[in-house]
Amino acid sequence: MREHLLAAIAAAPALDALETVRVDALGKQGRITQLLKTLGKMSPEERQVEGPRIHSLREAVTEALAARKAALEQAALDARLSSERLDMTLPVDTTGFGTVHPVSQVMDELAEIFADLGFAVATGPEVETDWHNFTALNIPETHPARAMHDTFYLAGVEPGGDERTVRRVLRTHTSPVQIRTMLDQKPPIRIIAPGRTYRSDSDATHTPMFHQVEGLVIDKGITLGHLKWTLETFLKAFFERDDIVLRLRPSYFPFTEPSAEVDVGYTIEKGKRVIGGSGGGWMEVLGSGMVHPKVIEACGLDPNEWQGFAFGCGIDRLAMLKYGMDDLRAFFDGDIRWLKHYGFAS
Ligand code: PHE
Repeated sequence: MREHLLAAIAAAPALDALETVRVDALGKQGRITQLLKTLGKMSPEERQVEGPRIHSLREAVTEALAARKAALEQAALDARLSSERLDMTLPVDTTGFGTVHPVSQVMDELAEIFADLGFAVATGPEVETDWHNFTALNIPETHPARAMHDTFYLAGVEPGGDERTVRRVLRTHTSPVQIRTMLDQKPPIRIIAPGRTYRSDSDATHTPMFHQVEGLVIDKGITLGHLKWTLETFLKAFFERDDIVLRLRPSYFPFTEPSAEVDVGYTIEKGKRVIGGSGGGWMEVLGSGMVHPKVIEACGLDPNEWQGFAFGCGIDRLAMLKYGMDDLRAFFDGDIRWLKHYGFAS
């Protein structure tokens, strides 16, 4: 029986077959169990001979079962591991990667274009003080120009704050970066400041959060001519066309004097507006002007010594014009189909 059982154990091809052999030998009705039961009926002499034999048989079979079980389990594990092995040398699936958002792309382009003109990039906080966003820009408390900005005010006041810190707003334009830069750096200054801005406004061409880029030059002997040349050079590089035509319209901003709104000419090609030339009409692209002496003074500089120009431009609008998009709200929906349509996702 010993040889027979050990052979059956060694030959068991899988765990369930091995279990059948175990039940057959050691189960309630198993052959070894039955043998053990016979011991009780034996004479003491017989039992002395048979007892150790049967017990050693049970031990041998139990050991063989455990060894075979371990071997079968190891084999099963090996098989699973090799079936689940990853081939790290296989090429990766390249679909579904993200790409740079059109607004971020335009911001990068702006930084590059202006870097070539000697401008550094400056930044400021989006949660801004009322003083930096309005007062220092010559828009005092009662100024009607405040009504031009549908401002988000933050609840509560800064404890112990003075005029410059006490009331906070989500910045309504990037112009407060002008103030922070003039307070921080000695002129000559040449910076652009791209970033998020906020106004309580929403339709096809306005979103509560939008993007602007500010430009600021402070130096000696700066004129409106420098402003116009800078904007022309920038827009030619941005729209990648030499036939960019600008029109400066007299306008009003409290922080510039004189102020000009800048339009760019367009033509109609295949029923679509294309920037360049001016046969089709004019499109407003930015606000600008010579920095107001009061603003220069608020930043602790002498307006008789230093002057300069500033401009502010909607980045989302620039992207719409460059890529022919028509609804500003789609910029911030994160709809992959829209991004794909304009070639911004693969
Ligand atoms: N801050 C103005 C706006 O948001 C734009 C501007 C900037 C105008 C700098 C003049 C100079 O409309």
